[in-house]
Amino acid sequence: MEKTLSIIKPDAVAKNVIGKIIDRFESNGLRICAMKKIQLTQENAENFYDIHRERPFFGELVSFMTSGPVVVMAIEGENAVLKNRDLMGATNPKEAEAGTIRADFADSIDANAVHGSDSLENAKTEIGIFFTDSELL
Ligand code: CMP
Repeated sequence: MEKTLSIIKPDAVAKNVIGKIIDRFESNGLRICAMKKIQLTQENAENFYDIHRERPFFGELVSFMTSGPVVVMAIEGENAVLKNRDLMGATNPKEAEAGTIRADFADSIDANAVHGSDSLENAKTEIGIFFTDSELL
């Protein structure tokens, strides 16, 4: 069993498809352990995406992630990290396989509907940014 972090990004929240995205997880053997809808501050977004700080897209990424509310979730299941990444599809929705969340709900590499942790180690760190242990039920 693994836990991973999923974020439904401002574009998907604005499109009112939170439930449709959560259904992809629940229909594929993943369970929501914790969930909240929040507005990230610039500082929150900069800290969360710290590993991308030197990338040319960092400013746009932070500005997009603070453009509206997001839904953060800890999700659990067998091979949850990889399973979530398979369900999301490629970072660039133009390259995402048909039937994946990004192919179905995302518009661009910035507005790409969801974020998912890329490793078990990062999943632990990312879950810890948003949830305490006692909130993971
Ligand atoms: P995410 O999985 O949230 O991780 C970092 C985000 O940066 C990524 O999804 C994209 O939305 C965004 N991004 C913008 N440009 C790029 C790029 N060239 N390569 C990777 N990520 C990018």
